[in-house]
Parts: sequence; C-alpha cells; structure tokens
Amino acid sequence: MKKKNEEKIIFFCNGKKCGKYNKEPKDYLKKKIAEFGLEDKVCISKMDCQGMCKKAPVVYIEPKDIWKKEVTEKKAKKIFEKYLL
Ligand code: FES
Repeated sequence: MKKKNEEKIIFFCNGKKCGKYNKEPKDYLKKKIAEFGLEDKVCISKMDCQGMCKKAPVVYIEPKDIWKKEVTEKKAKKIFEKYLL
C-alpha cells in the first residue's frame, strides 16, 4: 500500500555525460514540484556516474527503485505524473 507522506527522492546522475543533458528535465521537475507544492514530499538530489553514460541522462527514483534512462523533458513529465503525484 502506498504511504501518503512517503518522501520521494529523484536522483539525477551528475557525472560528466549526464551532467551535460540533465538541466532541462531537472528544471522541469523542480518547476512542477514547486507548482504542486510538493517540496516537502519530493526532493531532487544528485548521484555520481552510474556507468550507463550511453543512456545519459540517467535518473533513479526512490523509494520505488526505478531507473530511467535518456530522460528528456517529455520523460520528466511522465515521471512527474506517474511517480510524484
Ligand atoms: S555520467 Fe551518468 S551514467 Fe555516467
């Protein structure tokens, strides 16, 4: 069962390759989190290179234990709707 106040953490890989591509999806999620007042339920963090640089940018969603690769703004929108609302 889904806990209502469970904190979610979105980890953006901040390695050399992902770091080049993650600004757009990260900014999008930050904007949506603020817009929906989810700041105390969702936080955005960063992680080191995960060895999947060919799939940059890489995102990890906790506590769902979900990896997302090649995260564009469009994919960030899906992540927001599916996992953060
Ligand atoms: S830089 Fe992100 S997986 Fe390597």
